Amino acid sequence: MLRVERSDIREIRTSEDVVAVRQAVRREAVAVGFNLVDQTKIVTASSELARNTLDYGGGGTVAIETVLNGVRCGVRLIFEDQGPGIANIELALKDGFSSGSGMGLGLGGAKRLSHEFEIESETGKGTRVSIVRWKG
Ligand SMILES: Nc1ncnc2c1ncn2[C@@H]1O[C@H](COP(=O)(O)OP(=O)(O)OP(=O)(O)O)[C@@H](O)[C@H]1O
Ligand SMILES: [Mg+2]
Repeated sequence: MLRVERSDIREIRTSEDVVAVRQAVRREAVAVGFNLVDQTKIVTASSELARNTLDYGGGGTVAIETVLNGVRCGVRLIFEDQGPGIANIELALKDGFSSGSGMGLGLGGAKRLSHEFEIESETGKGTRVSIVRWKG
């Protein structure tokens, strides 16, 4: 059973918002008691996913949450957009695949930096990516 202790929803409409998301995720990770390495991992993942939300999703939102699962405490991030969606999720997750001019490392990188990773996307409807990193 996952309990949501705190949830802060933010808009991602501009590059400044992406920076603000990074800072808010850092604050949340510090508040939960993450060490510096774990802070950097979740902040880096948040940066990649926020960028994708802006660049490919046409903007959207992120919920920054403190979650509890029995003995463990962590940070969950849920990115949502109403953009074009991802036609082939498996391909999008492959390192080196980009439909734009990126390196194609963001999604796969965010997955590797997280303990839990879920992605739902529907063509023409939008995309939802949820990650959790537990406190080490
Ligand atoms: N929110 C989204 N909406 C629609 N398509 C997306 C979304 N997020 C990712 N994608 C698709 O998945 C592909 C891979 O994403 P990924 O973040 O791995 O690479 P990138 O953003 O292209 O490059 P990089 O992140 O390395 O700069 C993107 O090129 C894009 O086609
Ligand atoms: Mg990316």
